[in-house]
Amino acid sequence: MTELAAPVITIDGPSGAGKGTVAQRVAETLGFALLDSGALYRLSALAVLRHGADPADGEAVAALAAAMQIRFEAEPGQGVRTWLDGEDVSQALRNEETAAMASKVAVLPQLRRQLLDVQRGFARAPGLVADGRDMGTVVFPDAPVKIFLTASAQVRAERRLKQLKEKGIDANLPSLLEDISQRDARDSERKTAPLKPAADAVTIDSSALNIDQVCQQVLEIAEKNGIRRGESES
Ligand code: DC
Repeated sequence: MTELAAPVITIDGPSGAGKGTVAQRVAETLGFALLDSGALYRLSALAVLRHGADPADGEAVAALAAAMQIRFEAEPGQGVRTWLDGEDVSQALRNEETAAMASKVAVLPQLRRQLLDVQRGFARAPGLVADGRDMGTVVFPDAPVKIFLTASAQVRAERRLKQLKEKGIDANLPSLLEDISQRDARDSERKTAPLKPAADAVTIDSSALNIDQVCQQVLEIAEKNGIRRGESES
């Protein structure tokens, strides 16, 4: 394994544990770059949907992913705006069709291999916070700080229900809980890069914690490992 270009904090875990928000806040606090690896799988899914490609054809999906022109732009405090081939896809990236297709193509070893170097390319001074499912196990196995952020399925379903309600979308708890349990099983049982904590990861259960408390814990763990706020290089 080659040496990391900069310190990396990996944050892995199931969907709904709060990884995205925590990764963004920690990156902002430390002045680090951010990698939302799920967005790369969602972008690949969008490319498949737009080209009408066969999601089971690993070579074809990997080729589409290799040809994607991607641009991420952080909007402090508001998230990240994302472009695919010159089009702003920030909204399309988050819809259910894209999420379902992303979970299908994420099982393809050819796609995962294709995205490996893309993901590693995000590591740059002064540091990177990488959010996903296999950041600590596969993509950045030498990262000095690895977090596995989890929460009970019940709590994640309740959080999702709240988010959907805020957006005016109708949903009910039992079916969300069922969806989440199925997705967990698919993510943790798949052969390629299954969702599991790295042997040297610290597990944080966010069921009874708010975002600030989780960020605080992550920053304390980072500090113990000698990671402090960096100055960006511009
Ligand atoms: O975190 P998310 O919902 O944006 O992820 C979208 C899909 O991609 C989800 O099915 C899990 C998968 N994924 C993955 O397999 N590996 C990653 N490092 C990140 C996401």
